[in-house]
Amino acid sequence: MENSDRNDADRHTHSSPIRRVTTRSVQEMKKQGKRISCLTAYDALIARILDEAGIDVILVGDSLGNIVQGHETTIPVTLDDIIYHTKAVVRGVQRALVIADMPFMSYQVSPEEAFRNAGRLMKEAGASAVKIEGGHRVCEAVRRMTEAGIPVMAHLGLTPQSINQFGSYRPRGQNQQEAEEMLKDAKELEKAGAFALVLEKIPMNLAQEITKSLTIPTIGIGAGPHCDGQILVYTDMIGLTIDFSPRFVRRYDNLHQRVNDSVSRYIQDIQSGHFPNQSESY
Ligand code: KIV
Repeated sequence: MENSDRNDADRHTHSSPIRRVTTRSVQEMKKQGKRISCLTAYDALIARILDEAGIDVILVGDSLGNIVQGHETTIPVTLDDIIYHTKAVVRGVQRALVIADMPFMSYQVSPEEAFRNAGRLMKEAGASAVKIEGGHRVCEAVRRMTEAGIPVMAHLGLTPQSINQFGSYRPRGQNQQEAEEMLKDAKELEKAGAFALVLEKIPMNLAQEITKSLTIPTIGIGAGPHCDGQILVYTDMIGLTIDFSPRFVRRYDNLHQRVNDSVSRYIQDIQSGHFPNQSESY
């Protein structure tokens, strides 16, 4: 197969070709008015399930600091952590676009360092794009990466890596000054080359205005229905996490309870001698 064929994003399996989602195809979806579905994942098993279900984009978010590592914030997550989890996710995926989150202090020091670290996420971990938090301050880094062929998803609104600066997870962009700055940042990020923009926890009217002002897709989380796509942390969406219930999370299952019930029954079966039975033995 020629390189150009591979770049065409067709992957042939036994029966039918699977057309990979690319940064270009999510931009095309905005043009066609098709909503983009996104979730986080941190391992191959879950990534495979999301991919088989037809999710468009999988983000290896630094939320893994909270979800997988048990930290209070995303601040302790390292570049090596993201590389490790991205490698696993990439192994589980055939179709979805896999984006690796750049963790705290992997892009703030200088555009050069951001560029080098983003390169590791692409080359070592196999990500197809990276995500960084921030507005005009990260535009130079976005420009450098984009020019070198590293697609960047930007992230405005509530940016959890700035928790120590803001002191709370309150919604952003609620006053006129913050809203105007965010709109300006969004336009600058688009100009710098970002291929998409996450909008987290902002008023839906502001998200609508930003979405209308940009040609690149916006992906909302707590930003209302007018964004071009939506993202949630997958453990919130399936009800595995129960101690985090902002209004923007819709729970499609209650897996925390269901796993708890299964484990309780398993324990009972062991204690009562009902597991394993004859047909489960050799
Ligand atoms: O880290 C993460 O999971 C994120 C999404 C919630 C957008 O940044």
